[in-house]
Amino acid sequence: MNILSPSILAADCWQLGQQIEQVQRAGARYLHIDVMDGIFVPSISFGMPVITSLRKRTDIFFDVHIMIQEPERYAAQFVSCGADMVTFHLEATEHVQETIDAIRQAGAKVGISIKPGTPVQAAFPWLEQVDMVLVMTVEPGFGGQKYMDSCTEKIRQVREAITERGLSVDVEIDGGVTLDNISVPLEAGANVIVAGSAVFKGDVEANVSALMAQM
Ligand code: DX5
Ligand code: ZN
Repeated sequence: MNILSPSILAADCWQLGQQIEQVQRAGARYLHIDVMDGIFVPSISFGMPVITSLRKRTDIFFDVHIMIQEPERYAAQFVSCGADMVTFHLEATEHVQETIDAIRQAGAKVGISIKPGTPVQAAFPWLEQVDMVLVMTVEPGFGGQKYMDSCTEKIRQVREAITERGLSVDVEIDGGVTLDNISVPLEAGANVIVAGSAVFKGDVEANVSALMAQM
């Protein structure tokens, strides 16, 4: 089953609670939470206190995408704050195994992510150990960018590798999704779709419904 994961990076922070209620009312079961450290990516977003306070008010699945250098330093803390899944970048660490183990031991699902310039094969050694592979379809750091068509083939290749090995790993894509192009990553084999601007600009409930109708 395909899943929409609205990214609150594009939400109006003044109305964050209401907007999360709106995505839930429209049927979304995941919430994508982008944590940026200003080092791995050239921007800073939000972190633990925000996740902790949201967790007190909602049961929606927290799909936490950490764009942090040396994610092993903080991965387990995000689980304590309420992350259901923590996805980190392979480019950000030399300690992939330790990071996977830390997330798993803390009790959350594990995702690994690759930037547009990273060959998809970088994810292959880890497929048996993770719940999800996140193929970035924009350079991480900012919302509102254009979907990079060059990444579609990577979605296809990782899905193929997962199927060949008989695994049940989710393939998520993140960046530049619109109503017009959402079918492209889905057809290539993605089953978790992040959407920021396409959800939070305009009528949130109507946007979620329209996107989910295409899935
Ligand atoms: C970018 C973030 C994305 C971002 C997507 O680094 O990881 O999750 O919020 O935003 P849109 O959907 O607007 O491209
Ligand atoms: Zn993200």
